[in-house]
Amino acid sequence: MFLGIDLGTSGVRLLLCDADQNVVASAEAPCTVQHPHPGWAEQDPQSWVDALCGAMSELRSSHGPALDALQGIGLSGQMHGAVLLDRDGQVLRPCILWNDTRSHVEAATLDATPGVRNLSGNAVFPGFTAPKLAWVANQEPKVFAQVATVMLPKDYLVFWLTGRRVTDMSDAAGTSWLNTGARAWSDDLLVAGGMRRDQMPDLVEGSDVVATVQPHIVENLGLPANVPVVAGGADNASAACGVGALKAGQGFVSLGTSGVLLAARDDYGADPATAVHSFCHAVPGRWYQMGVILAATDSLNWLSKVVGAAPDVLTAELGDRVIGPGPIRFAPYLSGERTPHNDAAIRGGFSGLDISHGRAEMTQAVLEGVSFALRDCQAALQATGTRLDQCLAIGGGSQSRYWVELLATVLNQPLDLPADGEFGAALGAVRLAICGVTETDPEQVMTRPKIAETIAPRADLTAAYADAYQKWRATYPSLKALP
Ligand code: XUL
Repeated sequence: MFLGIDLGTSGVRLLLCDADQNVVASAEAPCTVQHPHPGWAEQDPQSWVDALCGAMSELRSSHGPALDALQGIGLSGQMHGAVLLDRDGQVLRPCILWNDTRSHVEAATLDATPGVRNLSGNAVFPGFTAPKLAWVANQEPKVFAQVATVMLPKDYLVFWLTGRRVTDMSDAAGTSWLNTGARAWSDDLLVAGGMRRDQMPDLVEGSDVVATVQPHIVENLGLPANVPVVAGGADNASAACGVGALKAGQGFVSLGTSGVLLAARDDYGADPATAVHSFCHAVPGRWYQMGVILAATDSLNWLSKVVGAAPDVLTAELGDRVIGPGPIRFAPYLSGERTPHNDAAIRGGFSGLDISHGRAEMTQAVLEGVSFALRDCQAALQATGTRLDQCLAIGGGSQSRYWVELLATVLNQPLDLPADGEFGAALGAVRLAICGVTETDPEQVMTRPKIAETIAPRADLTAAYADAYQKWRATYPSLKALP
């Protein structure tokens, strides 16, 4: 048995599989995000541990004998968050998350520092880790002075499980401290960001075994002794492992809290002049590119909170089939935007509201706005010469058939739905554990999952959506022009 632990923004998901990757059980526990100021997003790392323990005890009571046969654990996690530890391993402040844009001034300064983009292979976005530490240095100097180690969110769970301070290449690539092409910390980038090499965790590949679970945690979680833990990967890299996207042309679109359009590459091929992300894959010797939008299901969840109806109730009101562009336009910039705008200050908006419109039209506008923003990501990837021939749809939003058909039509790209539910990143974590523990070649383990259905673009509507996309593109400059 192998266990995948996926630390998402909305909660911890566990996936237990046998050695042939058959799903045996899964469990989930929610986490909340705190927004103490506009543009801020934080979580207490202890809440991740609590969620992990909660989901584990559910798994223990439903599948105890299967857990007794555990051979390895892999992790996957939300990217870029800054977990700050002191010398004793105590957390110094809440984790500043990937969608927190408070450090936009520091990000702009780092981004303009000669050499930074070329070495890291990416623009420095405010959500990345390095500008967050520069913000802490400026705003919370007492905290900054005590920082012994900076780690990424899933690395904190690895630390809790094993006592070791490590990170993997795919998460390290999102810090702006890594030479992404060389897969090594860069002294130049660390100096530019005001950091020291001894504050960085040890750097390993995602499938490398880190250590076994510490005895007191074994007891706490009810696990067998000496289970090895692999470093795991960033959620997007892990999801790519989960859907078998290792080679050029293979990728996915993810409708999670964030929205991601990802394509694997056979080479490094960064294009740091653009807002496309170029990161190390979670398996050795591979890289990928992606466009990232900050609020995908987060936009729908926001609407759900405002109108007081669950997201699946809202999407169900639209039916299963797309019927053509709606009358309202929605810009999903609720937390600023990454690809293609790299704009922390921009905020979202509805336009074209009529007195006759109701909640269904607003829901449609939200799903369309997110889909159009992913079309922007597709254009950005195409401009860097990255191919996307095979594309799976994953993430919570892919449960809505309407949304997947809409997205396929807006992207004019067939989208494959995996047969076994939606286990992208958690399955990737399981697969990284299998590779590390059994020393099997990733290409053998990380195959494409069985496809339940391919959702084709609606040929009768692609022209109407192409036209609607062009009109929607005028939303960004008009929002930008607002005071
Ligand atoms: C990627 C990114 C998000 C998070 C979500 O750069 O910031 O996709 O990884 O968990």
